[in-house]
Amino acid sequence: MRVQGIDYRTVWIKNDTIKIINQNRLPFAFEILDLPDVDSACEAIVRMHVRGAGAIGALAGYAMALAFKNLNINNIDPPREAKRKIEATRPTARNLFYATEKVWTAGMEGGYRKAKETAEMLAEENIAEGRAIAEYGESLIPDECHIMTHCNAGWLGFVDWGSALAPIYMAHRKGKKIFVYVSETRPRLQGARLTAWELTNEGIPHAIISDGASAFIMQNNKVDAIITGADRIALNGDTANKIGTLDKAILAHHYGIPFYVAAPLSTIDFNCPDGTKIPIEQREEAEVLFANGINQEGHFVSVRLASPGSSAINPAFDVTPGNLINLFITSQGFIKPEVISSLKEKCHV
Ligand code: MRU
Repeated sequence: MRVQGIDYRTVWIKNDTIKIINQNRLPFAFEILDLPDVDSACEAIVRMHVRGAGAIGALAGYAMALAFKNLNINNIDPPREAKRKIEATRPTARNLFYATEKVWTAGMEGGYRKAKETAEMLAEENIAEGRAIAEYGESLIPDECHIMTHCNAGWLGFVDWGSALAPIYMAHRKGKKIFVYVSETRPRLQGARLTAWELTNEGIPHAIISDGASAFIMQNNKVDAIITGADRIALNGDTANKIGTLDKAILAHHYGIPFYVAAPLSTIDFNCPDGTKIPIEQREEAEVLFANGINQEGHFVSVRLASPGSSAINPAFDVTPGNLINLFITSQGFIKPEVISSLKEKCHV
């Protein structure tokens, strides 16, 4: 991704310190944070300085590697405890667990050097997968196309490129005319803040819509396709993604609009038979009751939106049944929901 003429990744490592773009400050400030150890990395995931399945996976991989830094082979309790801590940060995104498991195995075999190499390899893999999703997905996008997306599954949700936005970037770079409806994504506004910022940087025409406007837009405007990302895909194709995705899938079915989910194969949970077994993160009610932003003086502020005394419920994800998904756009090509389970052998997991 290029920001003010400089190439960045969402997450990277330099001199044994993890570096991240603080997504909680975007689009108002571009801030790089240093995460020198497992605890600071865990805090960054919990507070969503880094969010999005792919980016969380990359950060979790680097954090797991750091846990092997001063390994005493006669005492593997510290890296084991670090693994437990990292995996307790956010429960839904499969990529986090994919990364900790891979880096844990590498660290047990070859210590810090091998763990770090593996974390680096996973981050590179993430970029290559985004690029492949871009190439495959672009072929589904006709010229003069109107696409709706939800949450943020672009540069910031991965290490680079992204999943749901990657085909849109590729289509735009190939000269296709595209317009994107960006649903704001209450309560944390990943659509209004992050996707809108990315599309602005890429020069792609778009409009932010309130989440509740989706049905109206689908009923009255031209929406050619909906593309979202995924946090965890079960064997029957049921897919967890940001809360509000399910509404769009149901509406797309009603209005006959193709609903695509873009994700790398590392988002598939081959031990999860169906969506009822996907752990859904419940986040604090303050995210619903308050909103964060900047005031007219440019200072970050938090304001209460909801009636004082009322409480809130804040599930972070919902599960779209596989039968509402027309196609998965993966780094290995297009996959129908009903054949996800047959990939188990191929992926050697
Ligand atoms: O809570 P978030 O912002 O981490 O949720 C992110 C999403 O739901 C994305 O759509 C998903 O991770 C897919 S791709 C980054």
